[in-house]
Amino acid sequence: MENDNFEPYIVGFFCNWCTYTGSDQAGRSRMQRPANVRIIRLMCSGRMDPDYALKALKQGADGVIIGACHLGDCHYVEGNFKTVRRFALIQKFIEQYGINPKRVQLWHISASEGAEFTERIKEYVHELKALGPNPLKEVARLNHMEEIQA
Ligand code: FES
Repeated sequence: MENDNFEPYIVGFFCNWCTYTGSDQAGRSRMQRPANVRIIRLMCSGRMDPDYALKALKQGADGVIIGACHLGDCHYVEGNFKTVRRFALIQKFIEQYGINPKRVQLWHISASEGAEFTERIKEYVHELKALGPNPLKEVARLNHMEEIQA
């Protein structure tokens, strides 16, 4: 069941050549999408260190999206194949710590798929609303309070 009072905070690590440009194309075409995603641009999804996703979750993000070129379209030939393998590891790892693996996503969205990007963001926000807040969010908040008081 969806929680309407909860707005998921999503961090997107998007490849410059595809998903980042696709999200930009959606914006330029004035497609409406929820404003829940904070985007970090990478030059290739292969640059995505698994630790980035883990840190985002540890700091309270409710969802993480890795945006990659379609397989075979990576500008650096095999960067996104590495991403697929790393993504599987991230999902296994977080599941062992009781975090729903749906909290980390790997999307292959090209620069011309702004409409697809918009729809997937809407669906993912609904999915995260149904899942509820990241269980680590409260821990991150308490850690932050401790840092401020120190
Ligand atoms: Fe886009 Fe490698 S250049 S995933």
